[in-house]
Amino acid sequence: MTIYGVLLGPPGVGKGTQAKMIAERFDLAHISTGDILRDAVNKRTPLGLKVADIMKSGGLVSDEIINSLMEEYIKGLPDGFLLDGYPRTLGQATFLDNFLKDIGKGLNIALAIDVQDDEIIRRLTGRRYCPKCGRGYHIIYDPPKEDGVCDNDGEKLVQREDDKPETIRERLRVYRERTAPLIDYYKNRGLLEVVDGSGSIEEVHRLVLQVLERRGLVDKA
Ligand code: AP5
Repeated sequence: MTIYGVLLGPPGVGKGTQAKMIAERFDLAHISTGDILRDAVNKRTPLGLKVADIMKSGGLVSDEIINSLMEEYIKGLPDGFLLDGYPRTLGQATFLDNFLKDIGKGLNIALAIDVQDDEIIRRLTGRRYCPKCGRGYHIIYDPPKEDGVCDNDGEKLVQREDDKPETIRERLRVYRERTAPLIDYYKNRGLLEVVDGSGSIEEVHRLVLQVLERRGLVDKA
């Protein structure tokens, strides 16, 4: 059995960090809508130009844009994937369900990571990434060997534009209003698993593995 999963949770809770670890460990595709959109913004593609201001303000890109983007990505995927940052609205969740059904697939887990707001703010304000290779860091929890410089290529690390305190507050507000209802949506479908994300990256990873094993989606390590 392989994983057809979505990751849920507020901004900065650790979705991307855990998705990368799970995808590498079990050889799954990891699709992050945030990464796809940021790449489009950096390359100034037509999509990037359309979404840049919305992302900068902490708002959500329209369901129409996101659903048609994801349709193309998911169509081309081999078996097994983790969707990170999608779906983010009820409209996106129902679109995804219908689309997967049409291609003979279906989700088998919705993994929500839960962390208190004050810790989320610490994680987001301390997050840095390498503009060359994309590797992510945290100045305290996951620092590079040399202060401010990427371990892979020596590039100077930068902060995401939407990781400023006022934008973080708006992203949290938008999460509660538009995305939090998905917790019940997946609970009602028997797919929800909630993991306490307050421990270290490795501790959270262990909890995620336990859930995947309990659901019979991966073999016991
Ligand atoms: P997106 O990139 O998806 O942002 P997000 O959901 O706000 O999530 P983040 O990437 O900020 O956080 P994360 O949970 O992945 O945390 P991470 O692992 O990096 O989306 C950005 C924007 O794109 C949106 O605001 C919207 O405009 C648009 N968008 C994207 N998808 C969309 C959609 N479907 N519909 C509409 N619009 C969409 O961890 C954070 C930091 O904490 C890192 O520094 C990490 O090292 C550290 N850390 C992680 N885990 C731990 C731990 N356990 N202990 C200590 N530190 C930790």
